[in-house]
Amino acid sequence: MNKEKFYITTPIYYPSGNFHIGHCYATIVADSIARYKRLKGYDVFFQTGTDEHGIKIQKKAESAGVSPKEYVDKIVEDTKDLWSKLNISYNRFLRTTDKEHIECVQKIFKILYDKGDIYKGHYSGLYCTPCESFWTKTQLVDGKCPDCGREVQEVKEEAYFLKLSKYQEQLVKYYDEHPDFIQPISRKNEMINNFINEGLEDLCVSRTSFTWGIPVTFDQKHVVYVWIDALSNYISSLGYLSEDDSLFKKFWPADIHIVGKEIMRFHTIVWPIMLFALGLEQPKQIFGHGWLKVDGQKISKSFGNYKDPREYIDKYGADVVRYYSLREVPFGSDGNFSEDNLIMRLNSDLANVLGNLVQRTISMVQKYFAGKVSNKKIREDIDSDFINMISELSSKVDKQMEILNVGDAVGEIFDLLRCSNKYIDETVPWVLAKDENKKDRLETVLYNLLESIRVSSCLLTPFLPDTSDKIKNQLGNLNDSLEYIDDNSYSVNNPEILFKRVEK
Ligand code: MSP
Repeated sequence: MNKEKFYITTPIYYPSGNFHIGHCYATIVADSIARYKRLKGYDVFFQTGTDEHGIKIQKKAESAGVSPKEYVDKIVEDTKDLWSKLNISYNRFLRTTDKEHIECVQKIFKILYDKGDIYKGHYSGLYCTPCESFWTKTQLVDGKCPDCGREVQEVKEEAYFLKLSKYQEQLVKYYDEHPDFIQPISRKNEMINNFINEGLEDLCVSRTSFTWGIPVTFDQKHVVYVWIDALSNYISSLGYLSEDDSLFKKFWPADIHIVGKEIMRFHTIVWPIMLFALGLEQPKQIFGHGWLKVDGQKISKSFGNYKDPREYIDKYGADVVRYYSLREVPFGSDGNFSEDNLIMRLNSDLANVLGNLVQRTISMVQKYFAGKVSNKKIREDIDSDFINMISELSSKVDKQMEILNVGDAVGEIFDLLRCSNKYIDETVPWVLAKDENKKDRLETVLYNLLESIRVSSCLLTPFLPDTSDKIKNQLGNLNDSLEYIDDNSYSVNNPEILFKRVEK
């Protein structure tokens, strides 16, 4: 069977040693989308990685007394460890120091130069080193970098430029003809009002003031500007311009690039123009999400609100961090991270609703039927609504995932779990158990509950992969149909506590 493909990316992260819960948040959302598409039968390529060049890294390595490569190697290992703890199911972890990536970037630069879209000139301007960004005077806020608020430096050097101006009209036309290209739509207006309307200036795309970068093959004292290097990862990872470009042929264009709002301008202006110049198709969508803040502030060591995310994972478990990240922040808006709220979500949703339902149901199946239950179909009025709800869950989740409301998709599953607890309270199985004549009715009630838990656990796989596995294991049933089925049978294992409540 020829499966439909789906290519999703996160940004490639700066290995600067400060990975925080905000980076985890965006990666968890991307992972959930990737896993969801796999569940739906798509052939998925999910890519992440690290963006390792630039003066910032060079300086950090110098002060640590190691080479830049040694410096990043250690952090890359750490990053992979973090993603593995969070069950991030990437297909490719690209490092911009990978040989194939370097060769691809060099070829891209040369193609654009030969075409005349990259040309040599002189640069003098204002540069923010920590953000690796150039700014015009009017873009500065109080004379400082508008992104990070730090000092900018006057820089003058011989440099290559990419002709953004040449493609401005084509870009705006593309936006207009493809309303889904930039999401949420408010970000498109930001790009047009803040950057495009004032006229695109050609972009300086090489540096001579430091060496930790990809050399320009035909002018070795230049290294390629980190953003040209970094953006190319989305195609170099697929083997573009290499001997084996089968992945590129299969997966490009990307279905979605997930990026934070502050790097939207690179993804919605520079990247599309690079693709125009290369004669390649545009990604189908670029989604700009908001920031996760801590106590209302941007996360940063200098604000004292930075914590290694591993602390939370070790303390509460990966799925608790995943659940909280998905539920707490509407994707696209800013959100706030607080450990108190994480504990609240853990206690109220994961322990009380999900954990409790599974525990109660499996215990009753053990107690009343020695662990074995099939469908006796002794139904009452209350069952039809419940059964419909189980069967409709999959399409409700689908509807939310279509528009990337990942938190609401998980919310739909928890609505069913809540109703399942209510179904127990209303059908009172422990009362049925006292009446020998109600045995088949009791078995029907438990069967319906097991079906609800089974369907929920299948649909939870993309969001809470560990928990979903544990539930399936307790159910002893691997049927992966996403609807209520009439003729299933269960032989459950011993109940196991899924989430322990935490007292503040
Ligand atoms: N290296 C570039 C990306 C190049 S992609 C071709 C970069 N790296 S970064 O490490 O600084 O940021 C990576 C991503 O993390 C960005 O999308 C950024 O928005 C996101 N986040 C950084 N802090 C964040 C929060 N506090 N909350 C949510 N996302 C955050 O930019």
